Amino acid sequence: MDQDQLKKAAATAALDYIEDGMIVGVGTGSTVNHFIDGLAAMKGRIAGAISSSEASSRRLEALGIRLFDLNEIADLPIYVDGADEIDGGFCMIKGGGAALTREKIVAAVARRFVCICDASKLVECLGRFPLPVEVIPMARAQVERELARLGGSPKLRDGCVTDNGNLIIDVHGLQITDPRSLESEINQIVGVVTNGLFARRGADVLLLANADGVEQRVAPATEPSRLR
Ligand code: A5P
Repeated sequence: MDQDQLKKAAATAALDYIEDGMIVGVGTGSTVNHFIDGLAAMKGRIAGAISSSEASSRRLEALGIRLFDLNEIADLPIYVDGADEIDGGFCMIKGGGAALTREKIVAAVARRFVCICDASKLVECLGRFPLPVEVIPMARAQVERELARLGGSPKLRDGCVTDNGNLIIDVHGLQITDPRSLESEINQIVGVVTNGLFARRGADVLLLANADGVEQRVAPATEPSRLR
C-alpha cells in the first residue's frame, strides 16, 4: 500500500467512531479528506459537522454535509484529524496545512480527539517536522527573533496566509523533549496566535495505518469517564 492508501485506511477506521445523530468535528488535510468522503456516504445518519478550515468546509458543503457554527453548540462528542507527527504520548505537531489555530479550537471543545495517520507520522521525538507557528503579520520579525532564542531556525512559509489572515513561521531544527512546556512557552510570545504543538490537549485515540492494518491506540489518560 502506498502512503495515500494508508491514510485512507486510517480515515475509514475512524468512521466506526461516528454515531447516529452526532455533530462531528472535522480536521484538515489529505488524510481528513478521505474521512470527509467516507462521512458523506453516511451523511443521512449524522446531524452535521464543525469544520476546522475553509478547505474542509468547502469539501463538506460540496458533499452535502451540513455545517454548524462552533459557537452554537455546547457539546462536541468527537474531533477527527490527522497530524504531521505524533509521539508515543499522543502529543502531536500539526499545522502542515496551516489550519492549526482553528484545529486547536475545535479540538479544545471536543470530548474525544481521534487522530488518523499513516505509520510514517509516529516518531520517538517530535521536531523533525518543522513546527508551524501562526503569527500576527506585524509581529513577524519579533516572533522570529524570539523563536530563534528557543534554539530553532524560524522560516517564514512562502506565500501562506492563514484562514485567519495571519502568517506561518515554520521552526526547523527543534528536538522537542518537553512538548507541553514548549507549547506554553511559544504561546506566551507576543504576536503568536498559536503554535502547532498539540500536547496540552493531545489525541485520545490514535488510528495508525500500516501495511498490516489499522492499529488502535488509546491514550492512558482517556478514561471512559472522559469519553462518556
Ligand atoms: C493541517 O493544518 C494539519 O494539521 C494536518 O492535520 C496535518 O498537516 C496532516 O496532514 P495530512 O493528512 O495531509 O498528512
